[in-house]
Amino acid sequence: MTATVGLPLWLLAELTYRCPLQCPYCSNPIDYAQYKEELTTQEWFDVFDQARQMGAVQLGFSGGEPLVRQDLEELVAYAHNQGFYTNLITSGMGLTEARIARLKEAGLQHIQISFQASDPTVNNALAGSKHAFEQKYEMSRLVKQYDYPMVLNFVIHRQNIDQIDQIIDLCLELEADTVELAICQFYGWAFENIEGLLPTKAQVVRAERITNEYRKQIEERGIKCKLIFVVPDYYEERPKPCMDGWGKIFLTVAPDGTALPCHAARQMPIQFPNVRHTPLSDIWYESTSFNQFRGDDWMPDMCQSCPDKERDYGGCRCQAFMLTGDAKNADPVCGKSPYHYLIEEVRINSETPVPFEELRFRNPKNSKSLSNKQLNK
Ligand code: FES
Repeated sequence: MTATVGLPLWLLAELTYRCPLQCPYCSNPIDYAQYKEELTTQEWFDVFDQARQMGAVQLGFSGGEPLVRQDLEELVAYAHNQGFYTNLITSGMGLTEARIARLKEAGLQHIQISFQASDPTVNNALAGSKHAFEQKYEMSRLVKQYDYPMVLNFVIHRQNIDQIDQIIDLCLELEADTVELAICQFYGWAFENIEGLLPTKAQVVRAERITNEYRKQIEERGIKCKLIFVVPDYYEERPKPCMDGWGKIFLTVAPDGTALPCHAARQMPIQFPNVRHTPLSDIWYESTSFNQFRGDDWMPDMCQSCPDKERDYGGCRCQAFMLTGDAKNADPVCGKSPYHYLIEEVRINSETPVPFEELRFRNPKNSKSLSNKQLNK
């Protein structure tokens, strides 16, 4: 069945891959260090104009760390004037009170700050910065003072999952409107470090139970705070409708202008178009890469005949590629997939994790050596 193509409602502007932190679960590509030619301010304006004309309404500014871009306020103001709902996805590094005020003036509507852990020492060790926790804490307070709706995001993994109660306490203290307790999704750097980051099933069950207890307390106490708990694919039996379907509503533009149906797709052996050379509407409607996994013609027989294909769209293409080497295969998360054993092997390995010291942190040196390793495979 050929798909009717929807509108790219959600635009993710990855302004830069530069970042002062070094999280071992960063979702940027392993070879991020080789992409240096960032789009200019004017080129981003042009992307926003085109996306708005095509019906995009939500705009996320992310990276890397988007605050590294000194033109961020200018970009936010332009997008706001074009009618986008704007959201800043940041580590908080590089934020100051003056910038928070300027971004407010520019029309920024929403801020998401990520923490690494509730414990400052663990937080700073994961981030690779002695002052990261202090900075994030101060900035979260200021974001609330400036009356932004605030999301606090914690990537949950083996190194912090047993402190889930302290994490939620911290979020309540900081008056977060929404808390994302997102168990690590294994793409980019996280996939390289899966053996040190994937929690055990027992840890996930405990963390979810504690989150549910907090939800109850929060409701009883009349506190306005929404807790979102995201279970990792590796403990599911059915795949998620990743990105709400390939090329359905999400459009990511990477720092160098490469357009992607999902921010993790760059690792695939697919030639993705670039906004520097191709109009956005041609990319969205006509390009081979965006049409590649629309509809169900591309699916293996097993998925074609599955009644769930209308719900999960065959699962995650990046995961199928990373685990089986072919993005057209069924997502191995699916219990019916002939590759499901790969997921089961990872679950078993999670019982004997690699230690913290062996995590591969995101930095240019590791980027180079891991990229070379991948090339030589
Ligand atoms: Fe790329 Fe799922 S992360 S399709």
